[in-house]
Amino acid sequence: IRLAVLFGGRSGEHEVSCRSAASILTNLDRRRYEVLPVRIGRDGVWATAPAIPELPTTEAVLHWQRNGFPATGDSTPAGSVLATMHELVACDVVFPALHGPFGEDGTVQSLLEGLGIPYVGNGVAASALSMDKEYTKKIAAGVGLEVADGVVLRRGQHDVAAADRVRLGLPVFVKPCREGSSIGVSRVDDWADLPAAVALARESDEKVLVESAVTGREIDIGVLERPDGTLAVSPPMEILPSGEHTFFDYEAKYADTSTVFDIPAAIDPAATEAIGRDALRLFRALECTGLLRVDFFLRADGSRVVNEVNTFPGFTSASQYPRMWRAAGLEYGQLLDVLIDTARA
Ligand code: DAL
Ligand code: MG
Repeated sequence: IRLAVLFGGRSGEHEVSCRSAASILTNLDRRRYEVLPVRIGRDGVWATAPAIPELPTTEAVLHWQRNGFPATGDSTPAGSVLATMHELVACDVVFPALHGPFGEDGTVQSLLEGLGIPYVGNGVAASALSMDKEYTKKIAAGVGLEVADGVVLRRGQHDVAAADRVRLGLPVFVKPCREGSSIGVSRVDDWADLPAAVALARESDEKVLVESAVTGREIDIGVLERPDGTLAVSPPMEILPSGEHTFFDYEAKYADTSTVFDIPAAIDPAATEAIGRDALRLFRALECTGLLRVDFFLRADGSRVVNEVNTFPGFTSASQYPRMWRAAGLEYGQLLDVLIDTARA
């Protein structure tokens, strides 16, 4: 099977994608796949990559997030973009190992649809709706799932009205509507800090979500489509970030080794069942294919709030989604096989 693995990309999650791809490229069964790694630069230029990408440290990435990313190494002569496309269209299947806008949001999926090449994971609409927290929430609420109360600030809107402030309460979380890995997310404990939080979120997306905080345990679950079209649900995982972080931010996600992932989550069987049922309902409502990770808050009374979804969740062998499947007996390499076989089915 000729398999192209796309990674990098134009989003703020470029380095996270490189990490996911490094694990994927390391674990693909080379007897089964002839692999073409394709790196998309931060500047959007596509180029075939020699092998497994080199990975900067999270400290370096955090520094770049504050001070700007180095421009080096991204630009590739236009001729090689065409050569890359030429190699890509000769592949049997494409694995878009991309996170965030211009990769996990339907844009790359739409290009692959146009080229008529099968690809792993979610299609154009599911990716676009799931990348956008405004629409994910509307669809979740539309099928009876609870979501956090929130207000969307569109272009030109900078403030939350007094009545909305009273209703949302404090703290609130301020998030870019279309971004991942908690990039641009802040917790606001005082309305005086709202303008700075909105400005930070706007560095990623002009559309910003101001959301009520939910008190509950952070529980993730995976949905996986098998090649025959049936859906499987993973055991749930509880994320326990160390006390230093006020929420599960970029640093807690990628640098803090003291974050605990508890699988299966120590929750009662009724909650496990309900979370699985909710995740399947959302997978279908968003018209997902291939895979989805759904992130919930579980309240003490057993009620659940959908926080967000990821149509291509973090995919290092230590990331939540592959870990949940490993706990269910599906090893990382086997998980890759299921995703690729489903794409080709
Ligand atoms: N968006 C990151 C990769 C995740 O949620 O896993
Ligand atoms: Mg995410």
